[in-house]
Amino acid sequence: MKGVICAGGLGSRLYPLTRATNKHLLPVYDQPMIYYPIQTLVNAGIKEIIIVTGGPHAGDFIRVLQDGCEFGINQIFYAYQEKEGGISQAIACAEKYASGEKIAVILGDNCTNADISPDLKSFKSGAKIFLKKVPDPERFGVPVFKAGEIIKIEEKPKKPKSNYAVTGLYLYDQTVFKRIKKLKASKRGELEITDLNNSYLNDGLLDYCYLEGWWRDAGTFETLFEVNQFWAKKRLGRT
Ligand code: DAU
Repeated sequence: MKGVICAGGLGSRLYPLTRATNKHLLPVYDQPMIYYPIQTLVNAGIKEIIIVTGGPHAGDFIRVLQDGCEFGINQIFYAYQEKEGGISQAIACAEKYASGEKIAVILGDNCTNADISPDLKSFKSGAKIFLKKVPDPERFGVPVFKAGEIIKIEEKPKKPKSNYAVTGLYLYDQTVFKRIKKLKASKRGELEITDLNNSYLNDGLLDYCYLEGWWRDAGTFETLFEVNQFWAKKRLGRT
């Protein structure tokens, strides 16, 4: 299985911090933000990772990460997403690199201490998503349950039908790129990750589990601060 990290987008929710660099290179305590999702994949046994990024600061990634040897993996690859056309569009940029293998995708602003290696080892086909109970589900993809099963995922619903977020960690089989080609842009002009997950769900091929451990997306000032606090306390042995 190969790793894909989506690190494009403009990070405009974090202006002015992201005017001079990419959001995923901002500091999270003693490391750039992107180190955390990289470590999540590396700890799960992934040996090859592609960083999909875009925008004016894409070159900064190579200066920071180089060939990835610091992480003890075979290599880090890079792909350039021309426009901020959505997370599914970013994943599509990894098609040649995946060359028919299954992929583990993580969003570059998702920071967790969860161990997903058992999920990667047991993943055979279809797709798998990871859910987390949150106080503000309207910020996320939200699963709708009926009789204990997910019947639909809604992207940032005004009135969420559950208290769970679909976290930015996804496992996909080889059909992922064919499915992305069939997606249509949403009202906000993006190829949505939620539509991709719903495509698997509608075919009865979406598995889910609850993410064990601490998780945040660092996409707002508040959560960026929380993520910094969490890792600072952990490194300093104060948790
Ligand atoms: O964090 C989990 C949430 O991430 C999910 O629950 C949502 O379903 C999903 O849409 C996403 O929501 P966000 O509002 O956090 O998405 P955002 O636009 O902030 O993008 C998340 C990451 O994806 C970001 O760190 C960069 C990357 N990205 C985003 C876009 C729009 C790309 O690589 N390319 C893109 O075009």
